[in-house]
Amino acid sequence: MGTSNLRPDQRDAFQRTLDVISESRRTRSSVESNVQKSLLEPSEPSQVSLTLPPQIAELVFELPVRRRLTDLVLGASTVEEVREFLYEFSQVATLRNHSLEPRHTILLVGPPGNGKTSLVEVIASELSLPLLAVRYDAIVDSYLGETSNRIRQLIDFATRTPCVLFFDEFDAIGKERSDTQETGEIKRVVSSLLMQMDRLPSHAVVACATNHPEMLDRAVWRRFQVRLEISPPTREELGVWYDRFQRSLGQKSTLGEDKFIHAMSGRSMAEIEQFMLDVKRKLVLFGDKLNATQAVEQVLARMNSQPGKTTPAREANGKLSTRKTSARASKKQAPDGQTSGGISS
Ligand SMILES: Nc1ncnc2c1ncn2[C@@H]1O[C@H](COP(=O)(O)OP(=O)(O)OP(=O)(O)O)[C@@H](O)[C@H]1O
Ligand SMILES: [Mg+2]
Repeated sequence: MGTSNLRPDQRDAFQRTLDVISESRRTRSSVESNVQKSLLEPSEPSQVSLTLPPQIAELVFELPVRRRLTDLVLGASTVEEVREFLYEFSQVATLRNHSLEPRHTILLVGPPGNGKTSLVEVIASELSLPLLAVRYDAIVDSYLGETSNRIRQLIDFATRTPCVLFFDEFDAIGKERSDTQETGEIKRVVSSLLMQMDRLPSHAVVACATNHPEMLDRAVWRRFQVRLEISPPTREELGVWYDRFQRSLGQKSTLGEDKFIHAMSGRSMAEIEQFMLDVKRKLVLFGDKLNATQAVEQVLARMNSQPGKTTPAREANGKLSTRKTSARASKKQAPDGQTSGGISS
């Protein structure tokens, strides 16, 4: 198309439009090739870092991205959901041939310390995208106009720049809008955010995590195409932790799998990770006086005497629960009425 008959301002606008189109094609194809690479090759994750424009640098902090999906202990259905989510990204051309877009919004819910933040890190890592966590304290201003302005800046940035935009502890901002204790201000912030989120293209990944899904209103749930419940470990996952633990010790401990599962039942993934690290620390510092079994016994005794232990889940017959009732194993209903495997759509 010739531009010679356009006014200079029209020519500028035309050029800007072309620039946006070509930037969007470029970023999309770089995301696609990264996903292809990272999903197909078991390579080390590359930390993708961004130089953020100053006004955006105040609104987010960049989180380190190191781990891969296989580094986490997750239920099979969660892994399957995440793999499919990642695969869609690599298949955008095929999807578009059928007038479809890959899903790009994901909500993770579940009790503390079971891997919500870690899973968002993994998604960024598998997609080779930088991970930007939104700072609510920097976004919310006493003037609504300014808050909306900052949200707009952030969403504009994510539209242009491939990244995973992460709203951690999302309930802090996405609270039930009918909650009378909430000020009208925060409700308007959420409305503004949700409206702005709708204009994000599919190459911008939005991830939200919360321990309080009951505090999110219907309008928030509706925005997320993938919803996953990240639960405390099942018996099977405790078995995976046990194998990792024994391998990581570098020497044999007499701690049997059943005893390990019994001791860790009712604990979060984070507590189990801490237990492993505590044992390893003891062996590094006191390995000349302690063997692995003694180190394990000491750390277990300390763990059990400390406050904060969650009561192991037990079934009615007194046996340790395998938590079959978790969302992974049951059909749950999301507040918008959609039923799904887990709570993912
Ligand atoms: N599924 C998991 N597999 C391996 N390690 C895990 C897993 N879940 C949690 N961890 C470990 O526990 C720690 C806390 O995990 P993470 O921060 O991802 O939990 P969270 O669900 O986001 O917790 P919170 O709700 O408190 O933010 C991390 O150091 C992480 O390595
Ligand atoms: Mg977290």
